[in-house]
Amino acid sequence: MAEISRHNPRKPVMACMSSGKGGVGKTSLTVNLAFALAQRGLRVLVVDGDLGLANVDVLLGLQVQTTINDILDREADPLEAVVYLEPRLGILPASSGVPDLAKLGPEDHRQLGSILLPITRHFDFVLVDTAAGIGSSVLWFNTFVDYNILLLTPDPTAMTDAYALIKVLSRDYHRQTFHLILNQVKNEAEARQVYDHLARVASHFLSLNLEYLGAVPQDTSVSKGVRHQKPFIKVAPHSKAAIAISGLAERLKGWVTQKSASRKTVGEAGG
Ligand SMILES: Nc1ncnc2c1ncn2[C@@H]1O[C@H](COP(=O)(O)OP(=O)(O)OP(=O)(O)O)[C@@H](O)[C@H]1O
Ligand SMILES: [Mg+2]
Repeated sequence: MAEISRHNPRKPVMACMSSGKGGVGKTSLTVNLAFALAQRGLRVLVVDGDLGLANVDVLLGLQVQTTINDILDREADPLEAVVYLEPRLGILPASSGVPDLAKLGPEDHRQLGSILLPITRHFDFVLVDTAAGIGSSVLWFNTFVDYNILLLTPDPTAMTDAYALIKVLSRDYHRQTFHLILNQVKNEAEARQVYDHLARVASHFLSLNLEYLGAVPQDTSVSKGVRHQKPFIKVAPHSKAAIAISGLAERLKGWVTQKSASRKTVGEAGG
């Protein structure tokens, strides 16, 4: 079923979905974006980066045999742990109810990196769904990837927590670019208002430019998808949320196109 035989000799585009505040929709949007990218012909891997409280498998009703935690603990074969939902869509699940895994140390993270890198090379796009907050694994995943996507809702606490995460990642980990997705908004105007506010604060206090990636409206199809353990872009493909995911997926696909174009340019310049 899996299309993993075509080994990608180059690095895929890797992006992290993080939020600061919990429960803002990271897992729901990650899973749906992954399906949307796979529908567009990309080979996609979702990494459940919420190592102690995994949710991706629950959201998709998956029966999981091997998890990231088993790979770390007993050196299970990483490629065997990937569950394929569709020929182009793989999930690397994590475990739930293992508090220590949320607080891995630097040596564990080095090991995790060396396990993940060879797997990611079988894909064009890797999306990491992280835990909420500013724990060590959240910070590590955000430095492991190329793109940092920050998810927030118009709730003032979600804004404050997103700002706190941006501050730590820029100040202590030298991340410069953050892409914002506004979730559970009433409309585009509300999303732009929240973005403008956070962008002003980040520019003033951190000298950072925040990028606006897009918005997903508050939509009952999202929770319906969660309850049925199916992606809402499949169960409600014409819903407002599904249409928003489609727009976001086009933007993410653009990152892959951009990367291959810059490789070609570098290749041509190099002769
Ligand atoms: N756009 C939306 N419209 C309606 N409900 C939404 C939307 N986005 C997320 N939700 C609901 O919010 C709840 C939390 O979503 P989800 O589990 O994806 O958040 P999370 O950020 O991954 O949480 P955690 O921080 O605990 O990992 C779910 O019940 C989901 O259905
Ligand atoms: Mg989650």
